Amino acid sequence: MRLSCTLLLLGLSSPSWAGVTVQKAGLSVPQKYAHRRDQAKTLFTTSYTSYKKFAFGHDDLSPVSEGFSDGRNGWGASIVDAMPTMFVMGLENIFEEAVNFSSKIDFSKSQTSDTVSIFETTIRYIGGLLSSYELSGEKYPILVTKAKEVADKMAFGWVGSNEMPYGFIDFSTNTPTIGTSNIAEAGTLSLEWFTLSKYTGNTTYADLTAKSVKHIANLAAPLPGLAAQGIDPTTGSAVGGYVTWGGGSDSYLEYLIKYARLTNTADSIFIDTWKTAVDSSIRTLLKRSTVGNHLYLADFDDSRQIRHVGSHLACFHAGNWLLGGKLLGNQTIIDIALELNEGCWNTYASTATKIGPEAFAFVSSDGNFTGGNAISADQLKFYNKHGFYITSSAYIMRPEVLESNFHAWRVTGDTKYLDRAGAAIDSFNTFLRATTAFAALNDVNNINGGLIDDMQSFWFAEVLKYLYLTFDDPKHISLDDYVFNTECQPFRAPPALDSYSGKLVPAKPFTVQSGSLPQISPNAVSLKL
Ligand SMILES: *[C@@H]1O[C@H](CO)[C@@H](O)[C@H](O)[C@H]1NC(C)=O
Ligand SMILES: *[C@@H]1O[C@H](CO)[C@@H](O)[C@H](O)[C@H]1NC(C)=O
Ligand SMILES: *[C@@H]1O[C@H](CO)[C@@H](O)[C@H](O)[C@H]1NC(C)=O
Ligand SMILES: *[C@@H]1O[C@H](CO)[C@@H](O)[C@H](O)[C@H]1NC(C)=O
Repeated sequence: MRLSCTLLLLGLSSPSWAGVTVQKAGLSVPQKYAHRRDQAKTLFTTSYTSYKKFAFGHDDLSPVSEGFSDGRNGWGASIVDAMPTMFVMGLENIFEEAVNFSSKIDFSKSQTSDTVSIFETTIRYIGGLLSSYELSGEKYPILVTKAKEVADKMAFGWVGSNEMPYGFIDFSTNTPTIGTSNIAEAGTLSLEWFTLSKYTGNTTYADLTAKSVKHIANLAAPLPGLAAQGIDPTTGSAVGGYVTWGGGSDSYLEYLIKYARLTNTADSIFIDTWKTAVDSSIRTLLKRSTVGNHLYLADFDDSRQIRHVGSHLACFHAGNWLLGGKLLGNQTIIDIALELNEGCWNTYASTATKIGPEAFAFVSSDGNFTGGNAISADQLKFYNKHGFYITSSAYIMRPEVLESNFHAWRVTGDTKYLDRAGAAIDSFNTFLRATTAFAALNDVNNINGGLIDDMQSFWFAEVLKYLYLTFDDPKHISLDDYVFNTECQPFRAPPALDSYSGKLVPAKPFTVQSGSLPQISPNAVSLKL
């Protein structure tokens, strides 16, 4: 009797108590880290003050020249993308200002001459609007109206009976631009559009995007559960046979398990495909470096060769495997995830700035093929010391390594992850400083390598929110109550089920279809795929 009363009380104060939990029970941040949360907040307010002064209403601040750029159709991407972070940090005044701004955005046309990316617009604009709506207690319905406005235009990306959307829409004619897309662009819409259906009562949004994910999951794949990166939206078939957890594929894989958790859907295809993808990644892609014994997830190319490469973008995998490993109750996946996280953190710990590079490569017992240039003498020297070598040296203010570090903290409670996040804050304060804000870096391994004149909106949305939450009360935006979209925008999840289980799905015979595979250049610094 007494026990059940206690349980009832616990259940009331913590709705996430029942069902599977992701976070370590009873976690709290030790007092000695309290200043770190304030430092993360100061990075945000300093950056945003400069954005307001030099770039307000535009997409990005150019922090070096103190100007702006409009790479996201000129709708004020930084404001909308930063809005949930403002709420999470308790910055009520600028949050309300951002809501006011958002309520007046004209989504009927692009403010630039560019076509509209369904993927980028979904994760940054729809994600920012709907997460803000939820976080602020559904106080501003205009945020849903605005999300619906832009989604209704983008719904023209699904043509006729096509299950796959085109990647880009011309808003002046409501017609898609022809070309190849990829599974990240087509398969990273489901959390946001599901949430839009929830608040508009129109199920079309959820249906369109779930249909696309299921289409990809049902395609014959180069490796079980791991679809080829390229997609032809006209036919819905795979283009090429490139497999990676990096850009162009990454968030499709990320959303499989997150969609299962956000919706608690009875349709097992999402969880089955995620589990199968992880299983075949462990079998085929998991490689150890010959130096340092670091664990990495390699790529697998069109000619079925392992490419010994990794990237900042791909480093979200550790956090995603921690989430999925906890939901599935699979310690093998959790243990591998923690080791993958070590490999990614090592790319930070090894450089002159203690910030990790955009792309890297390594050597394993099965070779050193990367699909790119042979390893140079300098790279070999670096490799022999650190167990990876840099192939693209920039840091463009990406979050993935700190995102996985955040998950590792919330799941294990090991304070070494707090120390690492603290070290990253110190590095940002030391090396990313422009006159009034913070900027991207040309070369993480050269402290005099200079700054890049762009501050992407994901600095506000992701890097600074993950850092802040790492040092915040773990009950605030708990991984048991929220599912983060790929832009770190939290969506409120229903209570977790008692268990999540999936089964491995067998591969269908796959042959590489030629076509113009979209080139995901590691140097294309403006891509957020
Ligand atoms: C937002 O708009 C409302 C209504 O026009 C106004 O009362 C309020 O002062 C504005 N808030 C901010 C922070 O600009
Ligand atoms: C639901 O949204 C779709 C996509 O914009 C639209 O075509 C449809 O008319 C809407 N349905 C209703 C009932 O409003
Ligand atoms: C956990 O997942 C791994 C990888 O798919 C699999 O080999 C293992 O059997 C799973 N463990 C359990 C207990 O299901
Ligand atoms: C990479 O592989 C080639 C071919 O097997 C070999 O000749 C070369 O020495 C290797 N380089 C390194 C750094 O391991």
